[in-house]
Amino acid sequence: MNLLTGVERAGILRAGIELRVFDALADAPLTAAAAAAAIGSDARATEVLLEALAALALLEARVPDEPGGRTRYALTDTSRRFLVTGASRYIGGLAKVYTCDYVLDSVKDLAGAVRHGRTLLEDDAEKPGHPYWREFAEGITATSRATSRHVCALLEEWAGPRPTLDVLDVACGNGIQSLTLARRFPRARVHALDWPNVLEVTRRTAEEFGVADRVAYLPGDMFEVAPGGPYDLVLVSHVLHFFDVPTSVRLLSRLAATLRPGGRLLVNDFLVVSRDPLADPASRVFSAQMLAISKGGHTYSLEELRATLTASGLAFESLHSLPGMPVHTVLARAAADGSGR
Ligand SMILES: C[S@@+](CC[C@H](N)C(=O)[O-])C[C@H]1O[C@@H](n2cnc3c(N)ncnc32)[C@H](O)[C@@H]1O
Repeated sequence: MNLLTGVERAGILRAGIELRVFDALADAPLTAAAAAAAIGSDARATEVLLEALAALALLEARVPDEPGGRTRYALTDTSRRFLVTGASRYIGGLAKVYTCDYVLDSVKDLAGAVRHGRTLLEDDAEKPGHPYWREFAEGITATSRATSRHVCALLEEWAGPRPTLDVLDVACGNGIQSLTLARRFPRARVHALDWPNVLEVTRRTAEEFGVADRVAYLPGDMFEVAPGGPYDLVLVSHVLHFFDVPTSVRLLSRLAATLRPGGRLLVNDFLVVSRDPLADPASRVFSAQMLAISKGGHTYSLEELRATLTASGLAFESLHSLPGMPVHTVLARAAADGSGR
């Protein structure tokens, strides 16, 4: 039954976030009537929602001892940490991305996607400047920050002594990963590539991080825009899963040619690292989502990614897991790079 009511559960969480229920309860527990007044909604319906959120352990229902007394609803530790706007670990934006209309529409006909081998959405996210990506860039910031800390720590030893640190962030989204590197390493210069509507979000991040004077923008299609270079580091984060292997090889081959001697290409992505689906369920569920929203995407296996890198003129160097997340980082270098660094 938990599986069969998954859509309702996601909808309950989405409604709580959209109506800012968690913000309304941040200062003190409230009755349903008081919460309805605070968020400007219908009192009876608000009680239904609060009871449902409590049933999902996202709120605590404080039921009074006296019969007929009114229940008051309070935040739980989890909702206070993750669902109150402005909390350092806020993931309300991420929850919205996962339950947005585009994703829900796509999974309605997952069976059709399985029959045809690709998304059946006419308005799919490969359309230039699709609005989904801007929402994605804005919604995913908490996760991006966590990934960025990991990427910075991973590259510290390699980047520290390099005389230059020119970074190409391909399909950069909010840009938090490369811009965190720019904040950490004052000599880093970032080239941020994405659709123009998404780069508006990247620009805001660059200003917030105080690194705007070291960022150049490459608006447009990553398969067509001249990537420039040479670069010390090329970031390809959460991009390849959207494409089939030949398309990824086309992209990576162009990028491999932009690397300086000793340069690295970094891939962040969901990866299938175990043949046992039960040992690694997130990568399989994500793969089904990619099948539903893309023309050729899926979660790559590690072997498939290695073969894709090789076919693109890159040499696999190392695999790193991201603590607490079902995502991996792979470092590669140009296969022809004989610099030994
Ligand atoms: C899943 S997001 C990843 C964003 C970012 N790299 C990250 O790790 O958060 C995929 C990004 O690819 C961009 N994108 C998709 N197709 C593109 C294309 N053909 N040219 C340029 N950007 C594209 C989207 O706009 C979106 O920002």
